[in-house]
Amino acid sequence: MSERLEDIAAAMVADGKGILAADESSGTIKKRFDTIGLESTEENRRDYREMLFRAGDAMKDCISGVILFDETIRQKAADGTPLVDIIKAAGAVPGIKVDKGAKAFAGFPGDKITEGLDGLRERLAEYYELGARFAKWRAVIDIDTANGVPSGAAIASNAHALACYAALCQEAGIVPIVEPEVLMDGAHDIDTCYEVSRLTLLKLYGELYACRVKLEGTILKPNMVIAGKKSGKPSSPEEVAEKTLKLFRQAVPVAVPGIAFLSGGQSDEEATSNLNAMNAIGPHPWKLTFSYGRALQAAPLSAWGGKKENVAAGQRAFAHRARMNGLAASGKWTGELEKAA
Ligand code: 13P
Repeated sequence: MSERLEDIAAAMVADGKGILAADESSGTIKKRFDTIGLESTEENRRDYREMLFRAGDAMKDCISGVILFDETIRQKAADGTPLVDIIKAAGAVPGIKVDKGAKAFAGFPGDKITEGLDGLRERLAEYYELGARFAKWRAVIDIDTANGVPSGAAIASNAHALACYAALCQEAGIVPIVEPEVLMDGAHDIDTCYEVSRLTLLKLYGELYACRVKLEGTILKPNMVIAGKKSGKPSSPEEVAEKTLKLFRQAVPVAVPGIAFLSGGQSDEEATSNLNAMNAIGPHPWKLTFSYGRALQAAPLSAWGGKKENVAAGQRAFAHRARMNGLAASGKWTGELEKAA
């Protein structure tokens, strides 16, 4: 495969394909395994991820890239094959989460700042040797307007960190996924999400420009514009599509080749139908696809349940979600196709 940043980015958002986010940190994967009553050991984490990466045609047809955690990029499958080689053999690009998590932002209660810039140049060089051709850095912006969250300072500091990260990635020959996630956990309405996402994206693209990041060699991983989960007013796919696209037309330069959404706590089908609604009203200046964690993994995790005899069932569940989201990335998903499986 070509090593030009633009070509790697184009491959990551190839037609009908999207990204599998399997980069849960040790703390997060433990929480996921707790839901199936499975201990989070190195072997169990390996077995689970190997099951996904070996899911056959659905991996080949619908998954363009896989985001890995530091442990996984170094791991070998049960038969000794490096997991990175399994991903490459399926035609997907290996990627790596490089941030060190979102921490409390000093002086601004309720705000977070993502850490991980110190030593990043050296870590990126090692990840390149291990096969990574893209990376991910997630900034977390919560909404709690009554308490002044997010502050302008938190939006600006996170945008600046994302830009420093992106510049270091490109220097290392690695495509940065820039992820400024405005959380959907709050009680806010959809218009508040729109406004906070607008401020976040405008700041982000200002910083990326100032830091000389080549937008053609980046992928944006944003939240959709959607009401907070605790608002009691669920947003329809049409409303999500209309407001998200309206925002992106104002805030995301067309030099960006692709936008790969996070699922952020949407249900599996919600994440699929919202993405589909956006692609059904194209064409758009950027590819719109998925980079889902929970919305791709919740079903296979529960079908597997940590049991060897359920590996095939787990792979079928993953294949189904990958196919449904692949269709949504082309605007060809329907509720009937969802049920037909
Ligand atoms: P979710 O799709 O579960 O939000 O995870 C995607 C991700 O990689 C968040 O950083």
